[in-house]
Amino acid sequence: MSDLKVLFTREQIAARVAELGQQINKDFAGEPVVLVGVLKGAAIFLSDLSRQIQLDSTFDFIAVSSYGNKKQNSGEVKLLKDVDQSMEGRNVILVEDILDTGLTMSYLKKMIQAHHPKAFRIAALLDKKCRRQQPMFADYVGFEIPDEFVVGYGMDCAERYRNLPDICVIP
Ligand code: IMP
Ligand code: MG
Repeated sequence: MSDLKVLFTREQIAARVAELGQQINKDFAGEPVVLVGVLKGAAIFLSDLSRQIQLDSTFDFIAVSSYGNKKQNSGEVKLLKDVDQSMEGRNVILVEDILDTGLTMSYLKKMIQAHHPKAFRIAALLDKKCRRQQPMFADYVGFEIPDEFVVGYGMDCAERYRNLPDICVIP
C-alpha cells in the first residue's frame, strides 16, 4: 500500500461531498428523491452524500459489471442487479463513483429513463472527461481527474483498496 499516492484526502472529499449535497438540496427543495447507487464502487460516496441531503430520501442499488478484474473496459455492460422499485414519476439521482468512458452510464441512463422518472440526474464523484467514448455528462461532479487509475473511498483494483479513506493513484 505504500506505493499508493494520495490524490484527494478524506478532508477534501468530505468538503466537496458536502457542497454537492447542498446543491442537491437546492435543486430538489421540497421534493423527495431516490438515490440509486451503482454497486460496489459508489457505496461509500452514496452513504456520505446521502447524509448531506436534507430531503425526503430513499435508497436503491443497481449492480453492473464492465471491467471484470482488468483495468480496461471491455465495452460490455452486464446487469447483475436491477433496482428493487419502479423509478416511474420519481426524482432519480444515479450515484456513481467514476464517469470514465461513459459506456456504463449511457447503459444505465437508458435503463432508468425507460421507467419514465420525473427527473433524472447523475452524481459522479470523479469524472475522467478525457477518456469519454460516448458523450455523457454528470450533473453533479466531485472532481475532474486526468487519465489515472484511482482506488480508495469505495473504488477498487481487483476488489482491493475500497476501504481506503483517501482517493489514491496506483502508479
Ligand atoms: P465506464 O463505463 O468506462 O464509464 O466505466 C465506469 C466504471 O469503471 C466506474 O464505475 C468504475 O467502477 C470503473 N472505473 C473506471 N476508472 C476507474 C479507476 O480509475 N479506478 C477504479 N475503477 C474505475
Ligand atoms: Mg463502478
